[in-house]
Amino acid sequence: MDVVLRDEIYKQAIKWVLEAGESIRDKMNDPLDIETKSNANDLVTKLDKETEQFFVEKIKGTFTGHSIIGEEGYGDDLKNLDGTVWIIDPIDGTMNFVHQKRNFAISVGIYQDGIGEIGIIYDVMENILYHAKKGEGAFKDDKRLSPLNEKSTINEAIIGMNHFWLCENRLIDEKVMQQFVKDIRGTRTYGSAALEFAYTAEGIVDGYISMNLSPWDIAAGMILVKEVGGVTTDINGGELDMLNKSSILTCNISIQHRILAYMQKGRK
Ligand code: IPD
Ligand code: CA
Ligand code: CA
Repeated sequence: MDVVLRDEIYKQAIKWVLEAGESIRDKMNDPLDIETKSNANDLVTKLDKETEQFFVEKIKGTFTGHSIIGEEGYGDDLKNLDGTVWIIDPIDGTMNFVHQKRNFAISVGIYQDGIGEIGIIYDVMENILYHAKKGEGAFKDDKRLSPLNEKSTINEAIIGMNHFWLCENRLIDEKVMQQFVKDIRGTRTYGSAALEFAYTAEGIVDGYISMNLSPWDIAAGMILVKEVGGVTTDINGGELDMLNKSSILTCNISIQHRILAYMQKGRK
């Protein structure tokens, strides 16, 4: 992507993300019109929808020809990632948003012909903006994030993960997951995939494993993690398909093969 054009898109995207965040903060105490989607715990609110519509209107009105993949369906129905594609989760962590009114983020990843160019994750209530451009480093507000430290073992690693590994459709044998949890230092569950990616990029967790994530959960985070030398793959170590759901591992590259070894051992 042309660097001048990319800078223009980047500045505009950040402006819209901050504007959307402000609007969510302003309206979050009004009735949320909570509905469920794929199951009783898959929540969506009026503000998820309104926020995505806001981005779609802004993008289509400013950058003719750009395409959009959005969680709430106001974007385009894409069969490939040709051209410039914005991959948007208007509120990542809707359950947190509804129950806690905190710990949720706006996530915007911008791809050019399938390559991640711009990643933006905004922690709306903390007013913290994680942002990155391919090849130019990742930032938390104006502070450049350091390259991830090499780790020689996983014993000192903190890994973000959730209970889905122990519930329905287990992909990995639970005994192996139990051993994994014992072998690492600790686990954390934040309830927002985007924030878990941002924390991995920041180095405050060493990785994040999750089943069944959608492109909008990971599109921005992958770019941030890559910019600090981390890596994101599916749980077999393979490349991710940005048009479909995947079970993913994002982490410090120095422990990637160790974590993948558990996944391989426990695969059913
Ligand atoms: C969810 C969150 C959550 C993850 C789920 C996602 P949503 O996104 O990222 O942490 O465990 O798989 O669907 O629905 O709040 O945008
Ligand atoms: Ca999400
Ligand atoms: Ca969402």
